Amino acid sequence: MKSFKENEIVDYCINHSSVPSDVCTELEIYTKEKVSMSQMLIGKLEASTLGMMIKMLKAKRVLEFGTFTGYSALAMAEALPDDGEVITLDINPETVDIAKNFWSKSEAGRKITPLLGNAAELMDSIEGHFDFVFIDADKPGYESYLNFSLDRLNSGGAIVCDNMLWSGKVCNPEENDTDTNALRELNKNLKQRDDLYTTLLPIRDGMHVIMKS
Ligand SMILES: C[S@@+](CC[C@H](N)C(=O)[O-])C[C@H]1O[C@@H](n2cnc3c(N)ncnc32)[C@H](O)[C@@H]1O
Repeated sequence: MKSFKENEIVDYCINHSSVPSDVCTELEIYTKEKVSMSQMLIGKLEASTLGMMIKMLKAKRVLEFGTFTGYSALAMAEALPDDGEVITLDINPETVDIAKNFWSKSEAGRKITPLLGNAAELMDSIEGHFDFVFIDADKPGYESYLNFSLDRLNSGGAIVCDNMLWSGKVCNPEENDTDTNALRELNKNLKQRDDLYTTLLPIRDGMHVIMKS
């Protein structure tokens, strides 16, 4: 019997899942061809997972930390109802310009509001509460983004912190760089919180899903 490799399994899952639109695929291809650090894109399977969560929660208001070229924001906007909204924050004007260009090609793009600047400084200007939060910006900032998001989470809402496996480095005590330590510490702290229900999923680079208990 043929033994499947990890990439083949992921491709099989993608081929048998609802995935983001053709505009998202165009944006994915453009980013991979023209933008450095394109590996930061979440990709189709994680996008499908976020879309499923948004639909299961019947989310209307979504907050994202880390827009990059706008792929995850557009995928989440596509999963929202017509009156849904994604507010997305990023510090890099060049990648946000690319995002805006692709969002304008999609009907769902009108649901997205980009905010440009340092998330730590922008956060307090954001008003209201959210049904779903996706945290995917600078890793040392995750803890404060999570605390802000928990304060602003509607009852029954959820938060996903991305890259929480950090290519497996969090499992290796010999890996001690700033980002690895920040993510490892956050995983450890989340496990100790009785007020939260958490699941660390081995999808892509690790999606830590967090709800209030
Ligand atoms: C992993 S990428 C986001 C990928 C995006 N969610 C996607 O999959 O399409 C991380 C982004 O966080 C942004 N970022 C890093 N530090 C930031 C900060 N302090 N405030 C706001 N954005 C920041 C970077 O500019 C980068 O675009």
